[in-house]
Amino acid sequence: MLVSYLASGLAIIAFSCLASAHSDHVNYTVVPGIFLQDDPSTNASTFNFTASNFGLIDRDYPTDSSCPDRKHSTQWQRLSHYISALNSHSRSNERYSLLFLGRHGEGFHNAAESFYGTPAWNCYWSELDGNGTATWADAHLTATGINQALTVNKFWKHLMQDEKITPPETYYTSPLYRCLSTANLTFSGLDLPRRNQFVPTIKEYFREGISAHTCDRRSNKTFIHSNFPSYRFEKGFPEYDPYWTALHAETSTDQDIRSKKVLDDVFSNDDSTYISVTAHSGEIASLLRVLGHRTFSLSTGAVLPVFVKVTTLQGNSPTTTTQAFTSVSTCATAPTIRASTCNDCSCCK
Ligand SMILES: *[C@@H]1O[C@H](CO)[C@@H](O)[C@H](O)[C@H]1NC(C)=O
Ligand SMILES: *[C@@H]1O[C@H](CO)[C@@H](O)[C@H](O)[C@H]1NC(C)=O
Ligand SMILES: *[C@@H]1O[C@H](CO)[C@@H](O)[C@H](O)[C@H]1NC(C)=O
Ligand SMILES: *[C@@H]1O[C@H](CO)[C@@H](O)[C@H](O)[C@H]1NC(C)=O
Ligand SMILES: *[C@@H]1O[C@H](CO)[C@@H](O)[C@H](O)[C@H]1NC(C)=O
Ligand SMILES: *[C@@H]1O[C@H](CO)[C@@H](O)[C@H](O)[C@H]1NC(C)=O
Repeated sequence: MLVSYLASGLAIIAFSCLASAHSDHVNYTVVPGIFLQDDPSTNASTFNFTASNFGLIDRDYPTDSSCPDRKHSTQWQRLSHYISALNSHSRSNERYSLLFLGRHGEGFHNAAESFYGTPAWNCYWSELDGNGTATWADAHLTATGINQALTVNKFWKHLMQDEKITPPETYYTSPLYRCLSTANLTFSGLDLPRRNQFVPTIKEYFREGISAHTCDRRSNKTFIHSNFPSYRFEKGFPEYDPYWTALHAETSTDQDIRSKKVLDDVFSNDDSTYISVTAHSGEIASLLRVLGHRTFSLSTGAVLPVFVKVTTLQGNSPTTTTQAFTSVSTCATAPTIRASTCNDCSCCK
C-alpha cells in the first residue's frame, strides 16, 4: 500500500533568512597544492587521513627561508609560518584560513540504514524514532562511532606532540547529538593553548540536510545544555527545533544557501585562522560546494582539512532564491527489498 503526502497541502516552510541588504559579499577559493584531498588525482574512497599526515603535501613554501629554526621545523610548522606570512601580507579584504571539517562517528541511524538496507530505511524506518531496541531520533554514537572519535583524538595528540601542528583556535558544531558527542570525544584531553580551549559554539546551520528522517530533528536547547554544559549556543538559538517538519525535506539548493550563510557568519565574527567544524556527510558536502572544493566524501569519523582564501567583495552576491521544502512520500509497511535503485515510494510494492 502506498501512502502519499504529495498533495497534502501542508504548510510549506522555508529558510526566511536570505535577502539581507548587505553591499558586500564573501567569496571562497580553495588554495591548491597544500593538501592532497583537493587534488583531482586523489581517490577519496581509499584515502586514509591518519596514515597520510592529514594529506599535508611534503613541499617547500616560499617563506621557508625566514622560518625560525628551519632545519628542525616540521612540515606543519613551516605551513603555519607560511599561513601567517600570507595573512600579514594580504590585502585588507583578504584572509586565509585552515578549516578542519569533521564528520561525526557512526550513529545509530547509520547502523540502522546498513541493517535494513537503504530503500527500507528511507521509505519506512527512518521516519520512526527507532525500532524498539535501537533509537535513532537525534541519534547517539554507536560503540564504533565512539571509537572512531577516540581514534581522531589520538591522531590530534600525535599531530600536536610529534608534528607540531597548530591546533584549532575556535570550534563549531552542528546541534545534533552525534556531532556534539564526537566533538567532545575528539578534543578531550588535548594540551590546548590556554586562550584557545575547546569551548565549541553550536550553530544551527551546520546541521545535516533536513530530511524527513527523525535523525535530523534536533533535541531541545535545555537537553543539549544539560548534556554538554560547557558548549556555547550561537545568539538566538531557539529552545525547539524550528526547521524539522514531518514528511518534508530541505532542497540541496536551500542547504547550500544556509551553508554559505553560516560560513559568512563565522568569517564575519571570528578572526581565527584555524577553525574546526564538526558536522555531517551531507552538510560537509554542501560546505565543500560553497567553498569551491571538489566533491570529497568522508566516511564516518573522518576529518578533512581545507585551506581557503576568503575574499570580501563589494556588491551583493548573485541572488539565489530559497525554495519550499519538498514533500516526502513513505511506505505504510517496510519494504522487504534490501538493495535496488529505488529509495522512494516505488519500493513499497
Ligand atoms: C577509487 O578506489 C576505489 C576502491 O578501490 C575504486 O573502486 C575506484 O575505481 C577508484 N576510483 C578511481 C577514480 O580511481
Ligand atoms: C588508516 O591508517 C592507520 C595507520 O595510520 C591504520 O591504523 C588504519 O587502520 C587505517 N584505516 C583504514 C580504514 O584503513
Ligand atoms: C533494530 O535495529 C538495529 C540496527 O540499528 C538492529 O541491530 C536490531 O536488531 C533491530 N531490532 C529489531 C527488534 O529488529
Ligand atoms: C565531555 O563530556 C563530559 C560529560 O558531560 C564532560 O565531563 C567533559 O568535560 C566533556 N569534555 C569536553 C572536552 O567537552
Ligand atoms: C527537552 O527534551 C527532553 C528529552 O527529550 C525532555 O525530557 C524534556 O521534557 C524537554 N524539555 C522541554 C522544555 O521541552
Ligand atoms: C570566487 O570564487 C570562485 C571559486 O570558488 C573563483 O572561481 C572566482 O574567481 C572567485 N571570484 C573572485 C572575484 O575572486
